[in-house]
Amino acid sequence: MEIIIQPDSQHASQIAARIVARLVREKPHAVLGLATGNTPLQLYRNLVLMHRESGLDFGGVTSFNLDEYVGIPPTHPSSFHSYMWAHLFSHIDMTKDRINIPDGLAADIPAYCRFYEQAIRSAGGIDVQVLGIGTNGHIGFNEPSSSLSSRTRIKTLTDESRLDTAAGFGGHEGVPTHVITMGLGTIMDSKICLLLAFGKKKAKAIAKAVEGPVTAMVPASILQMHPRAVIILDKDAASELKMADYYTWVYEHKPDWQKH
Ligand code: PGA
Repeated sequence: MEIIIQPDSQHASQIAARIVARLVREKPHAVLGLATGNTPLQLYRNLVLMHRESGLDFGGVTSFNLDEYVGIPPTHPSSFHSYMWAHLFSHIDMTKDRINIPDGLAADIPAYCRFYEQAIRSAGGIDVQVLGIGTNGHIGFNEPSSSLSSRTRIKTLTDESRLDTAAGFGGHEGVPTHVITMGLGTIMDSKICLLLAFGKKKAKAIAKAVEGPVTAMVPASILQMHPRAVIILDKDAASELKMADYYTWVYEHKPDWQKH
Protein backbone atom coordinates (compact mmCIF):
# COMPACT_ATOMS: atom_id res chain seq x y z
CA MET A 1 0.00 0.00 0.00
CA GLU A 2 1.13 3.50 -0.65
CA ILE A 3 0.21 5.70 2.32
CA ILE A 4 0.29 9.43 1.62
CA ILE A 5 -0.18 11.75 4.60
CA GLN A 6 -0.97 15.38 3.88
CA PRO A 7 -1.43 18.35 6.22
CA ASP A 8 -5.12 18.69 5.29
CA SER A 9 -7.89 17.35 3.10
CA GLN A 10 -7.32 20.06 0.53
CA HIS A 11 -3.75 18.96 -0.24
CA ALA A 12 -4.83 15.31 -0.11
CA SER A 13 -7.66 15.93 -2.58
CA GLN A 14 -5.30 17.73 -4.96
CA ILE A 15 -3.09 14.65 -5.14
CA ALA A 16 -6.13 12.45 -5.74
CA ALA A 17 -7.30 14.78 -8.52
CA ARG A 18 -3.86 14.67 -10.15
CA ILE A 19 -3.96 10.85 -10.18
CA VAL A 20 -7.42 10.80 -11.78
CA ALA A 21 -6.57 13.62 -14.24
CA ARG A 22 -3.37 11.94 -15.37
CA LEU A 23 -5.27 8.73 -16.09
CA VAL A 24 -7.97 10.60 -18.06
CA ARG A 25 -5.32 12.45 -20.10
CA GLU A 26 -3.36 9.31 -20.85
CA LYS A 27 -6.43 7.18 -21.49
CA PRO A 28 -9.38 9.23 -22.82
CA HIS A 29 -11.64 6.15 -22.59
CA ALA A 30 -10.71 5.50 -18.97
CA VAL A 31 -13.18 3.78 -16.66
CA LEU A 32 -13.59 5.51 -13.30
CA GLY A 33 -15.09 3.96 -10.19
CA LEU A 34 -16.72 6.71 -8.16
CA ALA A 35 -17.76 7.13 -4.54
CA THR A 36 -20.14 9.45 -2.71
CA GLY A 37 -20.12 10.94 0.80
CA ASN A 38 -18.31 13.97 2.19
CA THR A 39 -14.84 12.66 1.52
CA PRO A 40 -14.57 12.91 -2.29
CA LEU A 41 -16.27 16.35 -2.52
CA GLN A 42 -13.01 18.27 -2.83
CA LEU A 43 -11.64 15.75 -5.32
CA TYR A 44 -14.72 16.33 -7.51
CA ARG A 45 -14.39 20.11 -7.09
CA ASN A 46 -10.79 19.88 -8.29
CA LEU A 47 -11.78 17.78 -11.31
CA VAL A 48 -14.49 20.31 -12.23
CA LEU A 49 -11.89 23.12 -12.02
CA MET A 50 -9.46 21.14 -14.17
CA HIS A 51 -12.22 20.63 -16.72
CA ARG A 52 -13.10 24.35 -16.74
CA GLU A 53 -9.65 25.82 -16.57
CA SER A 54 -7.45 23.37 -18.42
CA GLY A 55 -9.92 21.50 -20.61
CA LEU A 56 -9.68 18.13 -18.87
CA ASP A 57 -11.91 16.11 -21.20
CA PHE A 58 -14.33 13.55 -19.79
CA GLY A 59 -16.17 13.00 -23.10
CA GLY A 60 -14.85 9.45 -23.54
CA VAL A 61 -14.81 8.45 -19.87
CA THR A 62 -17.09 5.77 -18.46
CA SER A 63 -17.99 5.72 -14.76
CA PHE A 64 -19.43 3.21 -12.34
CA ASN A 65 -20.58 4.27 -8.90
CA LEU A 66 -20.03 2.03 -5.93
CA ASP A 67 -23.50 1.96 -4.47
CA GLU A 68 -27.05 3.28 -4.16
CA TYR A 69 -29.87 3.02 -1.63
CA VAL A 70 -32.61 0.51 -2.37
CA GLY A 71 -36.16 1.81 -2.59
CA ILE A 72 -35.57 5.49 -3.27
CA PRO A 73 -35.91 7.08 -6.70
CA PRO A 74 -32.86 8.64 -8.39
CA THR A 75 -34.53 12.04 -7.93
CA HIS A 76 -34.52 11.74 -4.11
CA PRO A 77 -32.29 14.55 -2.82
CA SER A 78 -30.19 12.10 -0.76
CA SER A 79 -29.82 9.48 -3.49
CA PHE A 80 -26.32 8.91 -4.78
CA HIS A 81 -27.66 9.75 -8.24
CA SER A 82 -28.56 13.25 -6.99
CA TYR A 83 -25.20 13.60 -5.27
CA MET A 84 -23.22 12.67 -8.39
CA TRP A 85 -25.11 15.06 -10.65
CA ALA A 86 -24.92 17.88 -8.10
CA HIS A 87 -21.21 17.56 -7.41
CA LEU A 88 -19.68 16.23 -10.62
CA PHE A 89 -21.69 15.18 -13.65
CA SER A 90 -23.57 18.48 -14.18
CA HIS A 91 -20.27 20.35 -14.29
CA ILE A 92 -18.18 18.23 -16.66
CA ASP A 93 -18.64 16.79 -20.15
CA MET A 94 -19.36 13.14 -19.32
CA THR A 95 -21.51 11.36 -21.91
CA LYS A 96 -24.78 10.48 -20.17
CA ASP A 97 -24.94 6.89 -21.38
CA ARG A 98 -21.46 6.19 -20.04
CA ILE A 99 -22.55 7.03 -16.48
CA ASN A 100 -23.51 4.01 -14.39
CA ILE A 101 -24.98 4.18 -10.90
CA PRO A 102 -26.78 1.19 -9.35
CA ASP A 103 -30.55 1.35 -9.77
CA GLY A 104 -32.09 1.37 -6.31
CA LEU A 105 -35.52 0.69 -7.82
CA ALA A 106 -34.51 -2.40 -9.81
CA ALA A 107 -37.38 -4.90 -9.73
CA ASP A 108 -35.14 -7.98 -9.82
CA ILE A 109 -32.15 -7.01 -7.69
CA PRO A 110 -30.03 -10.18 -8.15
CA ALA A 111 -30.45 -9.98 -11.96
CA TYR A 112 -29.66 -6.27 -11.86
CA CYS A 113 -26.48 -6.89 -9.84
CA ARG A 114 -25.32 -9.49 -12.38
CA PHE A 115 -26.01 -6.96 -15.13
CA TYR A 116 -23.95 -4.31 -13.27
CA GLU A 117 -20.99 -6.67 -12.91
CA GLN A 118 -21.21 -7.56 -16.61
CA ALA A 119 -21.36 -3.87 -17.56
CA ILE A 120 -18.10 -3.23 -15.65
CA ARG A 121 -16.46 -6.17 -17.43
CA SER A 122 -17.76 -5.06 -20.84
CA ALA A 123 -16.32 -1.59 -20.27
CA GLY A 124 -12.90 -3.19 -19.77
CA GLY A 125 -12.81 -3.05 -15.96
CA ILE A 126 -12.28 -0.09 -13.65
CA ASP A 127 -9.00 1.79 -14.04
CA VAL A 128 -9.18 3.82 -10.82
CA GLN A 129 -11.69 3.20 -8.05
CA VAL A 130 -12.22 6.14 -5.69
CA LEU A 131 -13.10 5.03 -2.15
CA GLY A 132 -14.03 6.57 1.16
CA ILE A 133 -14.07 4.54 4.37
CA GLY A 134 -16.83 4.20 6.92
CA THR A 135 -16.19 4.68 10.63
CA ASN A 136 -16.75 0.90 10.83
CA GLY A 137 -14.18 0.18 8.12
CA HIS A 138 -16.61 -0.36 5.26
CA ILE A 139 -15.73 0.47 1.65
CA GLY A 140 -18.63 0.91 -0.71
CA PHE A 141 -21.37 -0.35 1.59
CA ASN A 142 -19.56 -3.59 2.33
CA GLU A 143 -20.30 -3.69 6.01
CA PRO A 144 -18.19 -5.67 8.52
CA SER A 145 -18.57 -9.43 7.91
CA SER A 146 -18.91 -8.90 4.13
CA SER A 147 -17.26 -11.66 2.15
CA LEU A 148 -13.81 -10.52 1.11
CA SER A 149 -14.57 -11.82 -2.40
CA SER A 150 -18.14 -10.50 -2.66
CA ARG A 151 -19.57 -9.11 -5.90
CA THR A 152 -22.26 -6.49 -6.52
CA ARG A 153 -25.28 -7.40 -4.40
CA ILE A 154 -27.85 -6.16 -1.92
CA LYS A 155 -26.57 -5.41 1.60
CA THR A 156 -28.32 -4.51 4.83
CA LEU A 157 -26.85 -1.39 6.42
CA THR A 158 -25.53 -1.49 9.96
CA ASP A 159 -27.00 0.91 12.49
CA GLU A 160 -23.67 2.75 12.56
CA SER A 161 -23.84 3.44 8.81
CA ARG A 162 -27.48 4.51 9.05
CA LEU A 163 -26.63 6.91 11.88
CA ASP A 164 -23.72 8.32 9.84
CA THR A 165 -26.12 9.20 6.98
CA ALA A 166 -29.17 10.16 9.08
CA ALA A 167 -28.90 13.88 8.29
CA GLY A 168 -29.83 13.34 4.63
CA PHE A 169 -33.01 11.46 5.51
CA GLY A 170 -34.47 13.59 8.29
CA GLY A 171 -33.11 11.28 11.01
CA HIS A 172 -32.05 7.70 11.60
CA GLU A 173 -35.54 6.26 11.08
CA GLY A 174 -35.76 7.63 7.56
CA VAL A 175 -32.51 6.07 6.28
CA PRO A 176 -33.16 3.16 3.90
CA THR A 177 -32.21 -0.20 5.37
CA HIS A 178 -30.78 -1.72 2.17
CA VAL A 179 -28.35 -0.76 -0.55
CA ILE A 180 -26.92 -2.19 -3.74
CA THR A 181 -23.15 -2.10 -3.49
CA MET A 182 -20.21 -3.32 -5.53
CA GLY A 183 -18.60 -6.16 -3.61
CA LEU A 184 -15.10 -6.31 -2.20
CA GLY A 185 -14.14 -8.67 -5.04
CA THR A 186 -15.51 -6.13 -7.55
CA ILE A 187 -13.48 -3.33 -5.95
CA MET A 188 -10.35 -5.50 -5.83
CA ASP A 189 -10.56 -6.06 -9.60
CA SER A 190 -9.94 -2.31 -10.18
CA LYS A 191 -6.48 -1.57 -11.49
CA ILE A 192 -5.87 1.16 -8.90
CA CYS A 193 -7.76 1.69 -5.63
CA LEU A 194 -7.61 5.27 -4.35
CA LEU A 195 -8.90 5.53 -0.80
CA LEU A 196 -9.32 8.93 0.84
CA ALA A 197 -9.97 9.54 4.53
CA PHE A 198 -10.10 12.77 6.48
CA GLY A 199 -10.66 13.69 10.10
CA LYS A 200 -10.14 12.18 13.54
CA LYS A 201 -13.29 10.09 13.35
CA LYS A 202 -11.69 7.99 10.59
CA ALA A 203 -8.37 7.43 12.44
CA LYS A 204 -9.31 4.13 14.09
CA ALA A 205 -10.78 2.62 10.93
CA ILE A 206 -7.66 3.66 8.98
CA ALA A 207 -5.28 2.22 11.57
CA LYS A 208 -7.13 -1.12 11.48
CA ALA A 209 -7.42 -1.16 7.68
CA VAL A 210 -3.76 -0.29 7.05
CA GLU A 211 -1.89 -1.84 9.96
CA GLY A 212 -4.27 -4.46 11.35
CA PRO A 213 -4.93 -7.97 10.12
CA VAL A 214 -6.86 -8.60 6.91
CA THR A 215 -10.32 -9.44 8.15
CA ALA A 216 -13.92 -9.32 6.98
CA MET A 217 -14.62 -7.36 10.19
CA VAL A 218 -12.66 -4.43 8.68
CA PRO A 219 -13.61 -4.66 5.01
CA ALA A 220 -11.11 -1.96 3.91
CA SER A 221 -8.28 -4.19 5.18
CA ILE A 222 -8.67 -6.28 1.99
CA LEU A 223 -6.85 -3.42 0.23
CA GLN A 224 -3.65 -4.79 1.80
CA MET A 225 -3.97 -7.52 -0.84
CA HIS A 226 -4.31 -5.05 -3.72
CA PRO A 227 -1.21 -4.51 -5.87
CA ARG A 228 -1.91 -0.77 -6.29
CA ALA A 229 -3.78 0.67 -3.33
CA VAL A 230 -3.10 4.36 -2.72
CA ILE A 231 -4.34 5.65 0.65
CA ILE A 232 -4.41 9.45 0.90
CA LEU A 233 -5.00 10.86 4.38
CA ASP A 234 -5.01 14.12 6.23
CA LYS A 235 -3.01 14.34 9.49
CA ASP A 236 -6.04 13.57 11.65
CA ALA A 237 -7.06 10.41 9.80
CA ALA A 238 -3.41 9.27 9.98
CA SER A 239 -3.08 10.06 13.69
CA GLU A 240 -3.35 6.45 14.91
CA LEU A 241 -0.93 4.93 12.39
CA LYS A 242 2.12 3.45 14.10
CA MET A 243 4.37 3.83 11.07
CA ALA A 244 3.21 7.33 10.03
CA ASP A 245 6.76 8.73 10.12
CA TYR A 246 7.96 6.01 7.78
CA TYR A 247 5.11 6.60 5.28
CA THR A 248 5.89 10.33 5.27
CA TRP A 249 9.59 9.68 4.74
CA VAL A 250 8.85 7.30 1.87
CA TYR A 251 6.62 9.86 0.17
CA GLU A 252 9.15 12.66 0.55
CA HIS A 253 11.93 10.54 -0.91
CA LYS A 254 10.18 9.16 -3.94
CA PRO A 255 12.14 9.28 -7.15
CA ASP A 256 10.74 11.99 -9.47
CA TRP A 257 9.28 9.46 -11.91
CA GLN A 258 7.22 7.92 -9.10
CA LYS A 259 5.68 11.17 -7.86
CA HIS A 260 1.95 11.88 -8.29
P1 PGA B 1 -18.01 9.97 4.24
O1 PGA B 1 -18.49 8.46 4.07
O2 PGA B 1 -17.12 10.25 3.05
O3 PGA B 1 -19.28 10.79 4.19
O4 PGA B 1 -17.28 10.07 5.52
C1 PGA B 1 -17.56 7.48 3.74
C2 PGA B 1 -18.21 6.11 3.76
O5 PGA B 1 -19.11 5.85 4.59
O6 PGA B 1 -17.79 5.26 2.97
